[in-house]
Amino acid sequence: MLSTIPLRLLAVALFWVIPTAAAAEDGYDLWLRYQPIETPLRLSYAQRATAVVQDSRRPTLQAAAVELRRGLSGMLGTAPAIGLRDGSIILGTPGSSRLIATLHLPLKAAGAEGYCLKSARVEGHAATVIAANSDVGVLYGTFAYLRLLQTRSLPRQLDICDAPKIAIRMLDHWDNLDGTIERGYAGASLWNWSQLPAINPRLIDYARANASVGINGVVINNPNANAQILTQAYLRKVASIADAFRPYGVRVYVSARFSAPREIGGLATADPLDQAVRAWWRAKADEIYGLIPDFGGFLVKANSEGQPGPQAYGRTHADGANMLAEVLAPHRGIVLWRAFVYSAAKEDRAKQAYDEFRPLDGKFLSNVIVQVKNGPIDFQPREPFHPLFGRMPLTKVAIEVQLTREYLGQRSGIIFLAQMWSEALSADTCSPRCGTPVRDTIRAIAGVSNAGSSRNWTGNHFDQANWYAFGRLAWNPAQSASRIAEEWARMTWGNNSRFVRPIVSIMLSSRQAAVDSMTPLGLTHQMATDHHYGPGPWVCDLKETSWNPCYYSRADRQGIGFDRTSTGSDAVAQYAPAVGRCFADLKCVPDANLLWFHHVPWTYRMHSGRSLWNELISRYDRGVATVEANRREWALLRRFVDAPCHAAVAASLDRQATESKWWRDASIAYWQSLSGLPVPKGHSAPRHPLSWYQAIHFDTVPGYLAPGTGRQLSCVPPQGGPPCAL
Ligand code: GCU
Repeated sequence: MLSTIPLRLLAVALFWVIPTAAAAEDGYDLWLRYQPIETPLRLSYAQRATAVVQDSRRPTLQAAAVELRRGLSGMLGTAPAIGLRDGSIILGTPGSSRLIATLHLPLKAAGAEGYCLKSARVEGHAATVIAANSDVGVLYGTFAYLRLLQTRSLPRQLDICDAPKIAIRMLDHWDNLDGTIERGYAGASLWNWSQLPAINPRLIDYARANASVGINGVVINNPNANAQILTQAYLRKVASIADAFRPYGVRVYVSARFSAPREIGGLATADPLDQAVRAWWRAKADEIYGLIPDFGGFLVKANSEGQPGPQAYGRTHADGANMLAEVLAPHRGIVLWRAFVYSAAKEDRAKQAYDEFRPLDGKFLSNVIVQVKNGPIDFQPREPFHPLFGRMPLTKVAIEVQLTREYLGQRSGIIFLAQMWSEALSADTCSPRCGTPVRDTIRAIAGVSNAGSSRNWTGNHFDQANWYAFGRLAWNPAQSASRIAEEWARMTWGNNSRFVRPIVSIMLSSRQAAVDSMTPLGLTHQMATDHHYGPGPWVCDLKETSWNPCYYSRADRQGIGFDRTSTGSDAVAQYAPAVGRCFADLKCVPDANLLWFHHVPWTYRMHSGRSLWNELISRYDRGVATVEANRREWALLRRFVDAPCHAAVAASLDRQATESKWWRDASIAYWQSLSGLPVPKGHSAPRHPLSWYQAIHFDTVPGYLAPGTGRQLSCVPPQGGPPCAL
């Protein structure tokens, strides 16, 4: 009998019947595992998902229908039929679907990219409608519908409309053309340049994953850019990525090196006001759009950390950005111009971006977006929000956050970042008036990607949650971190509440634990030099003052903290008066930012009644204890998780536990060498003398590109030293 069935059909049939993610505990399927739903819920959901109706040949609508079939087949155990009947799911826009057009749904709330999910009677049948004004809206609606099944929360009557709150939601890859990733801890780059333009199916899954959380743009390469990306040979390869991503609504962008006209254009200058330079960029833009009609635009890091920029020619950031914006405008492209700038000369690095950019407010063309990191320094475990938010009312501004955990333990353990980003997004700028959170001041959001060639994409299973959370927050920055954590846990690991609850609580405790065990109470940038792996609070001899941890802690015999009030750098004055006043006032500033804004004596009395010294040590201990508790909790969850996966996370948590103690002990040993104070009763002394911690040295860690080497270096653990090898 079998032999009479054509093989091709058999393969198709098996594809639909076997849940595609059945053997996929290796993490490849991310949160799109579509595992079978338990009965009896499966039967009740199945009655309402008997068939899929989608007739258009448009690629995005086809991608939506394929995804819906994949999800339903996996979760319900049978492939949905085709055509209208009771229980059909109808996908489309009023333009693509006759059935949807006849329903005359009010789709205003769906906007340009959103969707509506509705229970409806269609030609006498009880049906579900996934409708939108655009094809990509239908795709997003399909993922939203699947999410309801995945999280077991499909209501009896569907009546949901949702639309993204931020128009541009993008991931920035810090990928180099040699296949390495700056600050990447998940293997090599996703883009295999020697293989491209041939498309690895992995890239399609990458685009699917992004679409599933509404990410609609990807910057392909490192903003420390190589001009070669703008040569025809590379642009053809970029075009093939764009073609692969297009059905999923993901546009590609490229980091452009400002000096490209000199490096690959044969010009003597890259002066943005030079006519030949402008003509070169115009021709380059035309060439790009000839290959990629929906190219997103350029990301530019200029006059920062050695990158070329307009200031070399006595021009401003606005001159540089506008020159590029002009050539992209006819094609509807945009410029994302980064505000991450600092230089040796400044007395307070935290002030420089504001000082350089605020005077340019109103000078940028309308297709320029100034991209500002969440905090004023550099993706630290905790920073106050960046003072530029809300303070450039005439300029479009983007927020940039970092998914890859450069300063947050890199590959180790579990650190869920949603709360950190929510903290920035919901901070009240008081500009133009109080009650204006950062999220209401931005037009775009960018996240430095944590994905690479690792089988499970992010190297560490739980870092997938940060990718998921970034997309969900970009879609709706007011969403709660706990809801996002719970969604992700249910979709990724399963819906058993005895498992979901502890996982969510581990995730939600993890970021504060990282702050506590590394840089509590507003301390910042205490990491070891260059690779930022492990503690280095004693480092004070680097040539650029603001690379030194001692520059940030300002710790001495009397006290600790950076005075950013009017008696110090007065960085508080860069915020709206109501915000700045609070930060400057010891009675008002939150403990979490105390040492960011104030230099206080070790004996300073905290709100808790404890001295600063005691409080500091309690925070380190609290951090270590939380990491330890999370490790123990995970051990109890063994029976819910596939063994190799459980073991991988357990090993990573072991490593995190060791590292948090290392951070705690090394930091306390150093602070104690300055304060001369004893470790308070009830807290243990560091296990080794300060010199022991100071002797630990890592030349390299994965993801750190030593200047000039351009290759990914592997970790060399010191004899008997901590964690690189764990
Ligand atoms: C940090 C990071 C660099 C990166 C830079 C940036 O300083 O350590 O590797 O190039 O941020 O955002 O441009």
